[in-house]
Amino acid sequence: MTDLIVFRYGHRLLRDERVTTHCCLVARAFGCKKIIIHGMEDPILIKTVQSISDRFGGTFKIEFTENWKPVLQQLKQQKYTLVHLTMYGQLIQKAQKKLKKTKKIAIIIGSQKVPSDMYTLSDYNVSVTNQPHSEISALAVVLDRLQDSTKIKFKKAKIKIIPTEKGKQVKIQK
Ligand SMILES: C[S@@+](CC[C@H](N)C(=O)[O-])C[C@H]1O[C@@H](n2cnc3c(N)ncnc32)[C@H](O)[C@@H]1O
Repeated sequence: MTDLIVFRYGHRLLRDERVTTHCCLVARAFGCKKIIIHGMEDPILIKTVQSISDRFGGTFKIEFTENWKPVLQQLKQQKYTLVHLTMYGQLIQKAQKKLKKTKKIAIIIGSQKVPSDMYTLSDYNVSVTNQPHSEISALAVVLDRLQDSTKIKFKKAKIKIIPTEKGKQVKIQK
């Protein structure tokens, strides 16, 4: 499986709390090993996501940074391909063939406007529809296109959902 991480550019307390939390949940659910959040450290967000991981398993991690560029440069040195999601980019349908062969990918998503050098530092600028929408939706679509999401495993899950056509079925692990 591809080694996937997410870099979230910009997190403002109160204003971005819910959207950043949902970005974390999408990243976790689609098998990313961590999210790096550029912005203010947010203990409530960490607690919310940790409580999901405690119950549903996996080893998803959250890190915060105040300096976006050195972190992305470091990821490049570690051989991560930087994929910036932006409505101005090339369509994911065009980029996905090459990206699916890539072993290490860091997906960058914005909140407020990203600096213009994000476009040049990134190896790919990729779009989902070339229409303005949301980092949560763009992230989910791209992560689903890059891998077979049915193969993702969540170690030490206490709750496992049994897919069911009607109703709810869960298995509680002791
Ligand atoms: C709500 S948008 C912010 C747009 C911001 N006002 C700007 O001008 O860049 C937040 C993030 O959603 C993602 N996004 C929005 N629409 C997208 C699209 N069509 N394709 C890929 N990513 C998109 C981008 O990562 C963007 O930085």
